[in-house]
Amino acid sequence: MDIDKLLDLATHLPKRVAGPLEAGLRKVPGVKGRLETEYNKMLVDMESDLHPYDDLIASFPNLPDEGLSADKILDMMGQVQEKETARWSQGYASGAVYHGDPEHIAFMNQVYAMHSQMNPLHADLWPSAAKYEAEIVAMTAGMLNADEAQRLRPDAEICGAVTSGGTESILMAMKVYRDRARKEKGIKQANIVLPVSAHPAFDKAAQYYGIQTIRAPVDERFQADVRAMKKAINKNTIALIGSAPGFPHGVIDPIPEMSELARKRGIGFHTDACLGGFIVPWAEKLGYPAPIIDFRLPGVTSISVDTHKYGYAAKGTSVVLYRHPDLRRYQYFTATDWSGGLYASPTMSGSKAGGLIAVCWAVLAKLGQTGYLDAAKRILETGDQIREGVESIPGLRVLGDPLWVIAFTSDQVDIYQALDAMAHRGWSLNGLQFPSALHIAVTLRHTQTGVAERFLSDLEDAVKEVQTQPKTNGGMAPIYGMTASIPFRGMVDDLLRRYLDLLYKV
Ligand SMILES: Cc1ncc(COP(=O)(O)O)c(C=O)c1O
Repeated sequence: MDIDKLLDLATHLPKRVAGPLEAGLRKVPGVKGRLETEYNKMLVDMESDLHPYDDLIASFPNLPDEGLSADKILDMMGQVQEKETARWSQGYASGAVYHGDPEHIAFMNQVYAMHSQMNPLHADLWPSAAKYEAEIVAMTAGMLNADEAQRLRPDAEICGAVTSGGTESILMAMKVYRDRARKEKGIKQANIVLPVSAHPAFDKAAQYYGIQTIRAPVDERFQADVRAMKKAINKNTIALIGSAPGFPHGVIDPIPEMSELARKRGIGFHTDACLGGFIVPWAEKLGYPAPIIDFRLPGVTSISVDTHKYGYAAKGTSVVLYRHPDLRRYQYFTATDWSGGLYASPTMSGSKAGGLIAVCWAVLAKLGQTGYLDAAKRILETGDQIREGVESIPGLRVLGDPLWVIAFTSDQVDIYQALDAMAHRGWSLNGLQFPSALHIAVTLRHTQTGVAERFLSDLEDAVKEVQTQPKTNGGMAPIYGMTASIPFRGMVDDLLRRYLDLLYKV
């Protein structure tokens, strides 16, 4: 893989080609072929990383002529699973698996096995599914101080829905604001104003629903710049967004000021607490410097909070909360004239996995307040330890003022080379860009004895290795290095699409 050549090609393109940043290079005659050759070299490396099991498990480009025995299938899948479990269960991953204790997993599997046939769309067959969903919403809202918010503002009537994940919760909230603004204000070309650090799920929502995004900068602490957001608001703005915390730097935006700005302008305010919704309320109780992020702030009109992250449920559930059912009603879909009968569904999906909802309800009930408080305490303490440890490694610098998602960079070494050196030691960390940095999202896996210490000593070694040894080829460093430095985002976009194609390659 010759990244330098690729960079050279891209940065020496004629001005008219460089044009707008989003210009897709695929449209450029003559360049495509040479770039494609370089891409393909890069993708060959990526492909071998993505398909490591070719010897271990049969592949099926077609249905097998005869079905395989259950034993054979379980054996093959078991071997693969065993290989994949080792890294995350020993705490080598940033985020990804947030609880992961074998007993917790066994309990969730037992609950799922009891409910694998459940489909909440058929409320007559499974009324328990509706009960579980309603109580997941109520328990989550309660944890986020809904009672107190309603006491402060008797007009609030906090409600919500269970979705399949953070992205769907965000999609739903953005659809609500778009449809409300259309109906109540006649806004046709809606926009949302959000900091650059807010999750791409908002861009996805904007793309799906024809909303424009106006991204505002963050300040030197990586918090949303409220003044810049204020300036960006115009008559078509339907909502402001703040993260608690944002994924990149684990920094909580100034939600009180931002939501107040939104309230004064008569527009929605969404707190994206997908990552932090199950930690921040406990951090507040534990005396950490955590601002109020929920409906106790009169300007907050919706919140996304992921049960499948620090809620410790199985992957596939999240909650979207609204200040009032009037808002939630914009989320619903109904069809009154279909020959298949009357149809109504609250979220994106039609049929959905009731088993995951049952698991989520069971996990919330099993952990209870003391369980979440204790988990948050352990995570926050480990976050403190990791933050202090990173700060003491020569050559590294922590970004912002994080609690448990710790981002760091270096002014002395190529941080992406450090990412690769950590990957060689088994670690799966997140690479960030603008500025180039890495982060680790601390989970319960990292609170196991010795894991934080191992992370810090591996990181120290990794940095030393990068300082003393010459660059190696391969790994993510060249790809991150290239994509972070290349001004032609159309080219990076193209590379990402090719990567997605690869995922579907059998
Ligand atoms: C702050 C934030 N918002 C939204 C999301 C999207 O969540 P999901 O991946 O569950 O769709 C994430 C995921 O990491 C996140 O960190």
